Amino acid sequence: MRFEVLTLFPESMDRMLGESIIGRARESGLITVQITNIRDFSENRHRKVDDYPYGGGTGLVMTPQPIVDAWQSIVERLGVRPRTLFMSPQGAVLNQAMAERLKQEACLILLCGHYEGVDERVIEEIVDEEVSIGDYVLTGGELPAMVLIDCVSRLVEGVLASETSYSEESHYSGLLEYPQYTRPPEYHGRKVPDILLSGHHAKVHKWHYVKMLERTRDKRPDLYEAYEMEHPEKVLEAFGLLPKKKRQRKQSAVAAAGITAATDAAAGITAATDAAMAALAATDAAMAALAFADNLSADNGMKVPVDTGREVPE
Ligand code: ADE
Repeated sequence: MRFEVLTLFPESMDRMLGESIIGRARESGLITVQITNIRDFSENRHRKVDDYPYGGGTGLVMTPQPIVDAWQSIVERLGVRPRTLFMSPQGAVLNQAMAERLKQEACLILLCGHYEGVDERVIEEIVDEEVSIGDYVLTGGELPAMVLIDCVSRLVEGVLASETSYSEESHYSGLLEYPQYTRPPEYHGRKVPDILLSGHHAKVHKWHYVKMLERTRDKRPDLYEAYEMEHPEKVLEAFGLLPKKKRQRKQSAVAAAGITAATDAAAGITAATDAAMAALAATDAAMAALAFADNLSADNGMKVPVDTGREVPE
């Protein structure tokens, strides 16, 4: 994959992107990062690249000519017009899903603004998409461009040791990563959880998943709620709430309905943690209702319809 960067500060970017995993990926040709100095394209005799804003205001604005000419030189050199991103606090915020989408591109041009911004006509003329790295304002787009290059490059095949290196980590599955430990087994009185030393792969795998759920629920209730809505049965199973196989279909439908009802009920509650608590309480209630319904059906030998709001598959 190829990244073409347009910036006024090429040296510092090149140095940062020459280190560690990204540096090695560049050396081995898995990714290419080519950095173009916008100033080299200025037609101004003092190599000026900025000017005062029309209509007044503080700060300087980057002029269109050097940027568009630098961009044009890349397009001509490559013989194609790559997707062009402008790093800007006004863009959609970069996340893992966006990184996955951008990885599909063979080449990206990243435009880094500086000072108070760039002339709006640049955005109209060459930019396909504005990308932010968070809801705060930095002095330029260089750090955001490096963040994006790092985040997308590590998804490129061969850059990390294996796909599991990133497929098991935070955000890939919509959950945060489980806690990691290495030697020694005890440090300052804190022990590595026994299960990790057991060598029992299936149990370790399950423990990892439960920790991912717990961590996400505690640290990022917004992500947890979305995950739980999408995978209600997996979550219940991980927490031991789907114990017996023969009840599985009926229970999961009831429990899923319980979660949905609780989520609906909690819709007006702004704190996501409150919503998660309500979901758990409703799940308990749904499980109790199921036990009650089962007792009834055992008593009279009839199939008791449980109103879950959903069809229970036969
Ligand atoms: N330039 C300045 N602030 C930025 C941000 N938060 N994201 C991307 N580009 C920026």
